[in-house]
Amino acid sequence: MKSVVLQDNPQERLAVKDSPIPELKPGEVLVKIQAAALNHRDQWSRMGMYPGMRYPSILGSDGCGIVEQVADSADQAWLGKTVIINPNVNWGENPAFQSLNYTILGMPTNGTLAEYVAVPAHRLHLKPAHLTAEQAAAIPLAGLTAYRALFTKGEVKTGKSVLISGIGGGVALFALQFGVAVGAKVYVTSSKEYKLTRAVELGAIYGVNYKSETWSKDLLKREYAGFDAIIDGAGGPQFGDTVKLIASAGNYVVYGATAGAPSPLHLPRLFFSQASIKGSTMGNDQEFKAMVEFIDQYKILPVISSVRPLEEAISAFDEMHEGKQFGKLVVKISE
Ligand SMILES: NC(=O)c1ccc[n+]([C@@H]2O[C@H](COP(=O)([O-])OP(=O)(O)OC[C@H]3O[C@@H](n4cnc5c(N)ncnc54)[C@H](OP(=O)(O)O)[C@@H]3O)[C@@H](O)[C@H]2O)c1
Repeated sequence: MKSVVLQDNPQERLAVKDSPIPELKPGEVLVKIQAAALNHRDQWSRMGMYPGMRYPSILGSDGCGIVEQVADSADQAWLGKTVIINPNVNWGENPAFQSLNYTILGMPTNGTLAEYVAVPAHRLHLKPAHLTAEQAAAIPLAGLTAYRALFTKGEVKTGKSVLISGIGGGVALFALQFGVAVGAKVYVTSSKEYKLTRAVELGAIYGVNYKSETWSKDLLKREYAGFDAIIDGAGGPQFGDTVKLIASAGNYVVYGATAGAPSPLHLPRLFFSQASIKGSTMGNDQEFKAMVEFIDQYKILPVISSVRPLEEAISAFDEMHEGKQFGKLVVKISE
């Protein structure tokens, strides 16, 4: 089968090449992938910057496809069903944090950027009926991360103000759509004016360019008491100024560090405001189920930046590296 393989070659770690169709272990099902999507972890892996690198591995944490084989007769009801895959591997018993042997589908275990993937049957969820395979493939990892960051950690509800950084990103856009769906007041940042315009079309109240000198002052003019929640996947040089935007008893949720090490923060501003800084990673299996139901209930349409064939998948990694995308980069694999 055709696949996107991470190989131990620092000149170019990715290759589109043939791999064997996976053989099923007990409890597994074989999904014929219709569409897969990229996440930043795939690009970090390509750069050799993801913990626990394993070569060779098939990348891809997001996929939608049709169940073609089941190992156990008890799972026969899945045959022929169109599904999306929960990318959590071994979250464990505690809903608050993942177990020590937690991993994510698509390195170290072989992932969805291939014609077939084998996963345990308990990872499957039916594709929401209102979505195409390409749209459904965009959901799993980014949707889950956004759901936990926004609702569980950010405690965002109707009427709360929330600031989401780097709105061109996959997680950020789901957080925007989820926040708008529940009636939160959503503000965004981006490096690109056209992405701010698109975010407002999706329901954001206002957006600022984080490259401008006055970005944080402009936001405070709009929400002078600060933001009840800040959902940040960037860190980096803006971190210290962003912390100053938290409202009293607000939640600053950090789920990524795309922009690198954080700038210093003003500790008195933090403790005087009774605010919390919380880390958030992925989400537990209950949150995955709730997230898929939420997308179904609010008929959310994932924002797709582009769709391309598997043979051209490496160009999607380049696009992500350059930060050109607005939404998910999808790879179409079969009908
Ligand atoms: N903890 C977890 O479970 C988890 C899960 C998913 C992702 N992540 C991490 O979260 C980050 C985003 O992931 P993703 O898949 O959504 O990535 P993505 O789709 O590639 O989006 C990255 C976005 O980061 C934004 N960005 C870059 N520099 C920025 C800065 N200085 N300030 C604010 N935003 C900046 C850009 O937004 P603009 O183009 O709008 O400027 C870009 O579109 C990555 O670092 C990823 O590894 C963590």
